[in-house]
Order: sequence, then C-alpha cells, then structure tokens
Amino acid sequence: MGIFSNEHDNKVVVLKMAIMVVVVVMVSSTAYAAGNFFNDFESTFGGHRVQISGPGSEQLALSLDQGSGSGFRSKKEYLFGRIDMQMKLVPGNSAGTVTTLYLTSDQSTGRHDEIDFEFLGNVSGQPYTLHTNVFSQGQGNREQQFHLWFDPTSNFHTYSIVWNPKLIMFLVDETPLRVFRNYENKGITFFPKSQPQKIHASLWNADDWATQGGLVKTDWSKAPFTAFYRNFNIDTSADGKWRNHDLDANSRSRMEWVQKNYMVYDYCIDWKRFSQAFPPECKHSKFE
Ligand SMILES: *[C@@H]1O[C@H](CO)[C@@H](O)[C@H](O)[C@H]1NC(C)=O
Repeated sequence: MGIFSNEHDNKVVVLKMAIMVVVVVMVSSTAYAAGNFFNDFESTFGGHRVQISGPGSEQLALSLDQGSGSGFRSKKEYLFGRIDMQMKLVPGNSAGTVTTLYLTSDQSTGRHDEIDFEFLGNVSGQPYTLHTNVFSQGQGNREQQFHLWFDPTSNFHTYSIVWNPKLIMFLVDETPLRVFRNYENKGITFFPKSQPQKIHASLWNADDWATQGGLVKTDWSKAPFTAFYRNFNIDTSADGKWRNHDLDANSRSRMEWVQKNYMVYDYCIDWKRFSQAFPPECKHSKFE
C-alpha cells in the first residue's frame, strides 16, 4: 500500500511537472503570436453578433442581419504604431454590406482623426472594392479605392496599417496599396499626428450607397452575413521597424503595380469633384 502510494505520488509529481512545462511553453509562445480579442477588445454594437472563439481567443466573427450589424474596438488607444489583422470577408452575394477595419480618435470632438479600410461588398462573382481614407481634424475627402488581386472571401489575408509621424501606409499581405505622407515640412498640415486612436472594426448595412453606387440592395434572404477577424498584432514598441517603415525599391514597384492595375478611384485625379482646387498634398509624389 505504502509503496504503491509513493509510486502514485511520484507519477503525480512527474505529471504536474510535465503540465507546467507545457503551460510555460504555451504561454511564452502565445506572447509573441496572435493577440487575444477577449483581453484587448470590447464590443461596440450588435450584442451576440460579436463572437470570439479559439483556444487563445484569437478569432472573432462579426455578423449582420436585418436587426443589426455588429462591431468591436480596442480597449486601448494608440498614437502611432503598426496594426496587422487577418480578415476573411462575407462570401457570395455581399452586396450592400460594408466590413471595416479602421483607426479613429474620439469622434465626439468634431475634429477627429481617422485612418480607414472599408470593404464594400458586391453581387456574387463581382469584385469587392477596398475603400481607403484619411481624416485629419474632422476633415476627410482623401479616398482611394482598389479592387483586389485575389478573392478576399475564400481565405484569410493580412491587412495592415503602418502609422508613424512621417507616413501612413496601407498594406495587403505586405504589398503597399497606398502611402499618405506628412508634408508639414512643405507647409501642409493635413496629417493625423497628435490625437491617439482606437482600433475599430464593424460589419454593417450600407445598401443606400455601398454597391455600385447604391443600385444593388442587400439580399436579406442570405442573412446572416459573417466576416472573420483573426491573429491581430499591434506593434507600438519603441524599437519597432514600423517607426522608420517606408518604401524600398521592391515595395515601391509592388505599389506601382497595384496602383496601375487595381486602383479604381483616386481623389487626386478627380477633376470633376475638385474643379476649384485639389487638396494640397496631391501635387507631391506619393513616393517621396
Ligand atoms: C462591383 O462590381 C462592379 C462590376 O464589376 C464594379 O464596377 C464595382 O466596382 C464593384 N464594387 C462595388 C462596391 O460596387
């Protein structure tokens, strides 16, 4: 009996040690891997339509039905940094839906800053439009829109915003789509640089304008619509690469390729809209 219980105790000790090793390995590896939605984010609207899942709370689903859309935001706010989010968009007929990932400062001030990714849905087989915009002190009107070179509904892709005092860069799977620069040394003050921003995401119905200018309405018989977010990363570290992130020869030619083949709207060449005067940054090359 005594021998048996000693043996049993030893086994328990060995087992406990093994569990501790596993736990330590798990904790230290997740610290460098995907962020945890449960710890870092909170829901903004839509109640049960915001669903966190995965063993490390690394996946989040938003859904939209006729009752409501849904959304979430970071608990913390950030002044500069790099945000990466993997997203998989609403498949099939997503016309009328808008899925977003954006940064914004407090909008109640009337002078808020904002950096936007908005994915405008489409009828089956037609491409999503990725809409980007930058707001400074409550003013926007800096839209550029793109189609994508892949189907954003069949797999997760990484959408990133790099925001440092010199530039804002929008990237998809590390390919830059757009660079918006701070030209204050040239006397242009339009650049978000003093108000901290929270990370927001949402899925909502905008069928009054989103798809083909509002002509195509949401097909509610396909509801609920669902978009997935996963494995986010927020880098605000003092020695992070994002601080000096800029175009190099390779990323510059990638961006030229995207802009030549996939850009469908650029405010800087919209002569009808800005017949009086283009916004001042339009006269500068986006490459410098
Ligand atoms: C939807 O598809 C049409 C036709 O291909 C395209 O012109 C449009 O840019 C697409 N996106 C939206 C949001 O309407």
